[in-house]
Amino acid sequence: MLMIQNRKKMRFFTVKVALCCVVVMLLTLSDAQLDNSFYKDTCPRVHSIVREVVRNVSKSDPRILASLIRLHFHDCFVQGCDASILLNDTATIVSEQSAPPNNNSIRGLDVVNQIKTAVENACPGIVSCADILALAAEISSVLAHGPDWKVPLGRRDSLNSSFSLALQNLPGFNFTLDQLKSTFDRQGLNTTDLVALSGAHTIGRSQCRFFAHRIYNFSGNGNSDPTLNTTLSQALRAICPNGGPGTNLTNLDLTTPDRFDSNYYSNLQLQNGLLRSDQVLFSTSGAETIAIVNSFGSNQTLFYEHFKVSMIKMSIIEVLTGSQGEIRKHCNFVNGDSSNLATLATKKSSEDGMVSSI
Ligand SMILES: *[C@@H]1O[C@H](CO)[C@@H](O)[C@H](O)[C@H]1NC(C)=O
Ligand SMILES: *[C@@H]1O[C@H](CO)[C@@H](O)[C@H](O)[C@H]1NC(C)=O
Ligand SMILES: *[C@@H]1O[C@H](CO)[C@@H](O)[C@H](O)[C@H]1NC(C)=O
Ligand SMILES: *[C@@H]1O[C@H](CO)[C@@H](O)[C@H](O)[C@H]1NC(C)=O
Ligand SMILES: *[C@@H]1O[C@H](CO)[C@@H](O)[C@H](O)[C@H]1NC(C)=O
Ligand SMILES: *[C@@H]1O[C@H](CO)[C@@H](O)[C@H](O)[C@H]1NC(C)=O
Ligand SMILES: *[C@@H]1O[C@H](CO)[C@@H](O)[C@H](O)[C@H]1NC(C)=O
Ligand SMILES: *[C@@H]1O[C@H](CO)[C@@H](O)[C@H](O)[C@H]1NC(C)=O
Ligand SMILES: *[C@@H]1O[C@H](CO)[C@@H](O)[C@H](O)[C@H]1NC(C)=O
Ligand SMILES: *[C@@H]1O[C@H](CO)[C@@H](O)[C@H](O)[C@H]1NC(C)=O
Repeated sequence: MLMIQNRKKMRFFTVKVALCCVVVMLLTLSDAQLDNSFYKDTCPRVHSIVREVVRNVSKSDPRILASLIRLHFHDCFVQGCDASILLNDTATIVSEQSAPPNNNSIRGLDVVNQIKTAVENACPGIVSCADILALAAEISSVLAHGPDWKVPLGRRDSLNSSFSLALQNLPGFNFTLDQLKSTFDRQGLNTTDLVALSGAHTIGRSQCRFFAHRIYNFSGNGNSDPTLNTTLSQALRAICPNGGPGTNLTNLDLTTPDRFDSNYYSNLQLQNGLLRSDQVLFSTSGAETIAIVNSFGSNQTLFYEHFKVSMIKMSIIEVLTGSQGEIRKHCNFVNGDSSNLATLATKKSSEDGMVSSI
């Protein structure tokens, strides 16, 4: 009875209040142990330390902001937000980094290591690599002029990673809407979350190999993808030669490539989504995502509000807390793995050297 009354009342709440309730519910029901002020006493400056490094790097590499958001996302979808994506190949670990959705496309591993060093200098052994990824994602949104939110903290780092889950759980660039929906559903994220989180493609780049199939001989009839704007298709042919290596880059948001705004959605309305997995949100006939794209495209505030909620929801997927996992000393290795210490001693911490997708 009480619940029914509450539900009726809910209808009279503004969208804003309703969204706040969702955040509170998520934090209290799904994971009471994460807390925005988790490092209040043990590492009070952690947010500004992370921010300083990311801001610094972004001056010469604006694309890093998208790369760091993607890194957090690709971490969370594979056995939860536990920094499993950061673990390198070793004798016992088959890294997620080389799984096809990540191989030669994830970026920013070196920047995360830079952040970790700065954080360790200030508060040794306190802050997890998984929390660094969550903070870096929020900070990247803000630095790209997007929304900010209170990042729940207190995650711990995994002791393993999963190549096979990376292959299974991460969305593909050519996914249909149904495939995207089930990929997100598997993580407890609904259709609104799917549309909101896809909006992160308002910044960043993609390699030709992820969309070239749309401009040359799509579905074997010699034509380009009918849901791709013909003007954009022409422009993309110039950037991505047919049969080329597919490593050239272009902007995911063709109107405001480095600004975190709602143009991603207005692009979709003009068939200007770069990836097939972007455009299907608007071009799948009869889909409930069309109305959501339209609402976010016409109201950036609404997009921001949903993006924040969905990012927080994503950031608490299957987290390790309390005494689970560990706080890694080096984000690329599990603590106390002596074979890795040898690797570290001989290996210069150089650029990740990977050609990247986003
Ligand atoms: C930021 O960059 C400057 C110049 O490249 C460097 O001196 C400084 O140490 C950097 N700060 C951080 C926090 O990385
Ligand atoms: C990852 O990419 C490299 C080329 O850079 C390739 O040699 C390797 O086979 C790829 N790994 C997987 C698992 O696909
Ligand atoms: C990683 O560790 C967790 C917790 O011990 C376990 O449930 C999972 O099966 C492990 N995954 C792999 C790929 O070993
Ligand atoms: C992408 O999907 C379309 C339609 O679902 C299909 O015709 C095409 O062959 C796919 N292309 C690739 C590269 O997977
Ligand atoms: C397009 O793809 C079809 C089916 O794979 C193939 O038969 C045809 O030769 C291709 N056409 C061109 C122009 O590449
Ligand atoms: C894309 O790559 C090709 C080589 O495959 C190169 O010739 C071309 O200039 C590049 N285009 C752009 C726009 O960078
Ligand atoms: C293609 O994009 C241009 C702007 O880039 C726009 O003017 C045009 O209406 C779009 N075409 C379609 C079919 O949406
Ligand atoms: C846009 O969305 C916000 C947040 O939900 C709402 O408060 C505002 O009224 C909306 N603006 C318009 C013009 O609909
Ligand atoms: C999906 O989740 C969002 C919170 O991320 C919530 O606001 C919305 O009501 C949910 N939609 C459905 C259809 O359950
Ligand atoms: C971890 O692997 C990446 C490539 O995936 C490499 O660039 C990096 O140097 C490695 N890290 C360390 C500390 O060896």
